[in-house]
Amino acid sequence: MNTIEPRNYNFSNVKYFSPMQLSEHYVLYTRYVDCINKVNKNLLSNSIYSICNPNYSDIRSAAKSKTYCLDAVKLHELYFENLTGNNTSISGSAASVINEVFGSYSNFLDKFECIALSMHGWVLFCYDRYSGDFYIYGQDSHDEGVMLFAEPLIVLDVYEHAYMIDYGINRKEYVEAFISNLDFGVVNKRLRNLNL
Ligand SMILES: [Fe+2]
Repeated sequence: MNTIEPRNYNFSNVKYFSPMQLSEHYVLYTRYVDCINKVNKNLLSNSIYSICNPNYSDIRSAAKSKTYCLDAVKLHELYFENLTGNNTSISGSAASVINEVFGSYSNFLDKFECIALSMHGWVLFCYDRYSGDFYIYGQDSHDEGVMLFAEPLIVLDVYEHAYMIDYGINRKEYVEAFISNLDFGVVNKRLRNLNL
């Protein structure tokens, strides 16, 4: 697997987040990038496959870190990409889909925020290629609760590290700040890329 380089994000238009909160979160993301690069390198070694044991083995550790760190990288990139403070009015296909599925953007937000307050890790609005449905779902960690064939459209990190510096334990306020910065240009681009 190719070496992954951390992507850069422009947070200059993001409101209600401090530079410290955003920069600390970004550093955490780069550590997941470091992790997956190291894991991928270690998986090239034949010796790591010498002991195959579900209780304790190098390959078990690497296999678990592969999904944990690679999912963490993907999820953080999706999160940072839709957190820009630009194009914050719902519009285009995103508006059509959300109104059709949820009745109104307000109804969507009520459900999105409720799931965001109920999970330990992530909340996603997705299109599921298996069922053909649009829905919101939650993950308790980077690699727990991942929905196969679900194409992410809106991705929100609800781990405490995403907001504790600015909001303490007030996750609801953080979720509202995220929604205020959600880039519907990005959401509509993700919808277009589905080629439905
Ligand atoms: Fe995070």
